[in-house]
Amino acid sequence: MQARECATRRSGFGLSTGARGRRAVTRAVRAPELNTTRSNEIFTAAQDILPGGVNSPVRAFKSVGGGPIVFERVKDAYAFDVDGNKYVDYVGSWGPAICGHANERVNAKLKAQIDKGTSFGAPCELENILGQMVIDRVPSVEMVRFCNSGTEACLSALRVMRAYTGRDKIIKFEGCYHGHADPFLVKAGSGVITLGLPDSPGVPAAATATTLCATYNNLEEVKALFEANKGEIAGVILEPVVGNSGFIVPDKEFLQGLRDVCTAEGAVLCFDEVMTGFRIAKGCAQEHWGVTPDLTTMGKVIGGGMPVGAYGGKREIMDVVAPAGPMYQAGTLSGNPLAMVAGIETLSILGEPGQYEKLDKITKRLIEGILKAGRDNGHAVCGGHISGMFGFFFTEGPVKNFTDAAKSDTAKFGRWHRAMLEEGVYLAPSQFEAGFTSLAHTEEDIDATIAAAQRAMARI
Ligand SMILES: Cc1ncc(COP(=O)(O)O)c(C=O)c1O
Repeated sequence: MQARECATRRSGFGLSTGARGRRAVTRAVRAPELNTTRSNEIFTAAQDILPGGVNSPVRAFKSVGGGPIVFERVKDAYAFDVDGNKYVDYVGSWGPAICGHANERVNAKLKAQIDKGTSFGAPCELENILGQMVIDRVPSVEMVRFCNSGTEACLSALRVMRAYTGRDKIIKFEGCYHGHADPFLVKAGSGVITLGLPDSPGVPAAATATTLCATYNNLEEVKALFEANKGEIAGVILEPVVGNSGFIVPDKEFLQGLRDVCTAEGAVLCFDEVMTGFRIAKGCAQEHWGVTPDLTTMGKVIGGGMPVGAYGGKREIMDVVAPAGPMYQAGTLSGNPLAMVAGIETLSILGEPGQYEKLDKITKRLIEGILKAGRDNGHAVCGGHISGMFGFFFTEGPVKNFTDAAKSDTAKFGRWHRAMLEEGVYLAPSQFEAGFTSLAHTEEDIDATIAAAQRAMARI
């Protein structure tokens, strides 16, 4: 799994898996060597060209230290870097690569489409096909609008919530990410009724003044916000399984409680399924939990690796969107044929029997193996998975919200991340990100990753 030369070198070390202190280590646990010369050169050059050397901040590895790995190509469950190293990849382009990288079927559709043109800027039937697939699968969606990213989907859904209700305020949750539009870049206040403060320079206070923040999994806080802002709250938006504070599972009662309170208050409930959509179930997280929101945002998987986003919901709500209704939202490349064919083929593959069961089976074994490796080596860990999404924290847990997640030992996570890279396993470079498996990951990949995790946990 690791750069070929390292695999042989590693076999010289004898480890057992007992608890820390009792561990029988026949020789000092040395890290396999990871040559990143070319990665380092390219990233150094990139820093003069791109802000921070990247086009999206988390790629820079700032929260784990060390330089980022520069990819040369990806295929199936693997990423290959510019120094010739091979990694088992559990980032999967941050979620889209659920069928495996460069999937043959998706690629064939893309190749066939490319000769017909990459962008029409006019209606094409492919939009109907993908739209209908989404409507057929996702309980809340009766109409859908395609756009180009999860950020666009969420900022548009927010506008829909406001246009439909005629109200301005929204509730979001601390640690949930809904893209980088101004109203979502909010630091959670300390009190329950705290109005949001901008989380980034350049976001005017006015843009976040109508954003209220609550603690994830705390229904009472949400009820208190509704009470204190009677008739003013347009809606509630949340990740129905959190991936952006690490992997955090909601209580079913919390989701059902949000549904009930939104219905009672005439507010719109929006599930941000940009990450969970078509990843944790064929009908997204809302099918998994049996709780149906009014609006849903999507991205990542729905584009099969092409840039895409979507939002959809009840017909009555979506009817406010132009040109059906007065709420303006548009996009030059929206619904472009390449994104549509990649999405159609990806959802077709995912629609075949047993796919989510396969994802669930390998991911369960993976996370259980990682947690066991942590505990065997004396580390406090907790974590879990749903279908092809997983995560763990370096803390005892339980982790129910961002405050719990923030108790994690992030310095240890940094060491773990680097140790796993040395072992040939590519993980998200932050304690506060989820991991993703794909249909291309084999049982052998999982075995090798668990064995690598045992060695890495012994070293950190
Ligand atoms: C839940 C969620 N919403 C929105 C977004 C923003 O999507 P994008 O990066 O495509 O703009 C992300 C991105 O990771 C996400 O995880």
